[in-house]
Amino acid sequence: MNILALNSSARAGRESKTEILLTALVEGMREAGADVEVINLKDKKINVCAGCFTCWTKTPGRCIHQDDMSRELFPKWVEADLCVYATPLFHHTVNATMKTFIERTLPVVEPYLAESGGRWTHPLRHQPPGAVVLSVAGFPALSAFEALSHYVRFLYGAREGALWAEIYRPGAEALVRAGVRRRDILEATRQAGRELVRDRSVAPETLDRIQQPIDDDLAAFMEMANCFWRSCISEGVTPREFDQKGLIPRPDSVNTFMLLLTYGFNPEGAGDARAVIQFDLSGSIEGACHFSIADGAIQALAEAADRPDLTIRTPSDLWLDIMTGRADGAEAFTQGRYTAEGDINLLINFARFFGPTD
Ligand SMILES: Cc1cc2nc3c(=O)[nH]c(=O)nc-3n(C[C@H](O)[C@H](O)[C@H](O)COP(=O)(O)O)c2cc1C
Repeated sequence: MNILALNSSARAGRESKTEILLTALVEGMREAGADVEVINLKDKKINVCAGCFTCWTKTPGRCIHQDDMSRELFPKWVEADLCVYATPLFHHTVNATMKTFIERTLPVVEPYLAESGGRWTHPLRHQPPGAVVLSVAGFPALSAFEALSHYVRFLYGAREGALWAEIYRPGAEALVRAGVRRRDILEATRQAGRELVRDRSVAPETLDRIQQPIDDDLAAFMEMANCFWRSCISEGVTPREFDQKGLIPRPDSVNTFMLLLTYGFNPEGAGDARAVIQFDLSGSIEGACHFSIADGAIQALAEAADRPDLTIRTPSDLWLDIMTGRADGAEAFTQGRYTAEGDINLLINFARFFGPTD
């Protein structure tokens, strides 16, 4: 099977959630024996459609523009058995780069009007490839893709069997820190790639795994996302710079502090450890809270614990500086800038419980 995979993201690498998902899908397709070419549309010169209808009249089937679309992409697209349209969700639909590509496929149809069952179309000049639409979005619920799904079903779904699958991943920005779920989502996306080559469709169970919630608690997701954006604004950094500097969202209350540590909890690092860690915070955030860690899970409560194994008394800003590497934890401890009472091994192993998962 000859597959053309188009990626219209403006970003790349770990930053691009479109690329992360597309890479997994393509891996699965190749494992199943398909011949897949991935093209990043941002590297190509694709002029916007001039609307001149030259491709319908003076040079039937051939666009007036001489660019990468005419020379390379359109011929490859027409030849492919399947095209994967991988796009970030921008303003509820495909982004402008993908839309420009789609509009430039006009030479595939003839100008004549046809009507069937109330739907108006143009006769095909060539058989276009089957379509898989893959998209990622910032909002955490699948409803983010409603407008896009309506559009692609209208665009590619009219011909029987032309739309092989729609693969949508909401809350995609959070994929990077989704730990175990991230791995399952990417493995399911690989599985979708294998299924597409084998069955020309994706099993509902596989789609469910790809679309599984990153968070069971959407209110907490929203709180963390808003905390992240407030931190970017107050630090004067873009998300990319935030990531490059290794920053973490700055909580502004005991509740967001608890959320942050709960989010940063690493179940694999914690293993079968059991511990109750209490914080007595002072400074910008005042108050007590504690975390109960057991069986690879964490529970936070905004109150002092009955019998904590470790109690950390610290100015909140100092602790956040230690967590982001701006302050040296061991040095601050010997200088008495914070105190720890109880099982000091828990303090030494703190990064094991709350470090990155991947
Ligand atoms: C201009 C713009 C418009 C966006 N519109 C939406 C939107 O309508 N719904 C949504 O859930 N996310 C929206 N997002 C978030 C992106 O879909 C999200 O950041 C995605 O991960 C981008 O893909 P990438 O990681 O490959 O760059 C938008 C982002 C930008 C920059």
